[in-house]
Amino acid sequence: MANSWMQTPAGYHIVGSRAELTNFFQAVFNPSTLPRYLHTIDASFITGAFFVVGISAWMLLKNRQAEMAGKSLRIGLVVAVIACVVQLFLGHYHAVQVANTQPAKLAAMEAVFEDEQGASLLLFGLVDPENRTVNNKIAVPYLLSWLITGEPHAEIKGLNSFPETDWPPVKVVFYSYRPMIILGGAFILFTLWGLWLLKGGTVYNNRLFLRLAMIALPLPFIVNQLGWITAEVGRQPWIVYGLLRTADAASVNVPAAQILASLVMFVLIYILLLGLWIFLIAKELKSVSDANVNGKEVASAW
Ligand code: HEM
Repeated sequence: MANSWMQTPAGYHIVGSRAELTNFFQAVFNPSTLPRYLHTIDASFITGAFFVVGISAWMLLKNRQAEMAGKSLRIGLVVAVIACVVQLFLGHYHAVQVANTQPAKLAAMEAVFEDEQGASLLLFGLVDPENRTVNNKIAVPYLLSWLITGEPHAEIKGLNSFPETDWPPVKVVFYSYRPMIILGGAFILFTLWGLWLLKGGTVYNNRLFLRLAMIALPLPFIVNQLGWITAEVGRQPWIVYGLLRTADAASVNVPAAQILASLVMFVLIYILLLGLWIFLIAKELKSVSDANVNGKEVASAW
């Protein structure tokens, strides 16, 4: 909610140089809270489900506790399919909100420079912000206008309509957004394939699927980071969109060294947590393999 407020501030008025709350509910349920909340929660379901599917696939490939692994693969796959398909709609809902509330961000996400009627959706392209163009592009005509407005000939505002000082770093936003969409689409195809194999009862010993499921395990983690890069770099040069520039937001009370120290501390704590997490997961997996070595594993039912 705090992040959404910084993206799409609401429920405040400016008194002198301060933003003061005028409506709590408008501030909390500002225009991007709901789409961001739903998109992020669904992203967590995808991440969790891919994790379960990946570990289960590894256990099946190694024939470790195959019955349990088969069950968790099934549950993980069903959750993954639902979460991935739903994400397509939630992502779309989020993109429409960005178009309505942060048009310069959308223009950077889609690398639209000129205002364009019947704007095409870029599948691939090399963006060149210096020359305000996209090279080597592969695009689907009218699709962007249709997706954003429901009207294939509607106008999409390009970056040239905004002062260059209000542009986000176009390359970072464009190249972080595109892989999210492409991988989001690939997740749908992959999990639908898994569901089809599950229906036929062959998923448990389809080695290609199981291997790919292991490879896919870290991808949602990466996609989450790409999504956040799109959202936060896309907000630049504003810390509070349209109100306060990041450059003007540096604290005059807290010295830079203290900010650096707290940042370093956060990084260290998170590295420690990551290390602990990998240690615990590895320990858990080892206990699975030890059980297997001791001959305690449940016979494969698959
Ligand atoms: C399937 C097509 C998808 C579309 C159309 C889509 C759309 C979007 C959009 C427009 C944003 C930027 C929001 C902003 O700037 O405020 C965003 C951010 C984000 N996306 Fe996606 N996304 C898709 C797939 C995914 C997937 C598969 C994941 C994760 C597994 C994901 C995770 C995120 C995260 C964590 C953010 C940052 C938080 C936020 O602002 O919502 N997205 N997405």
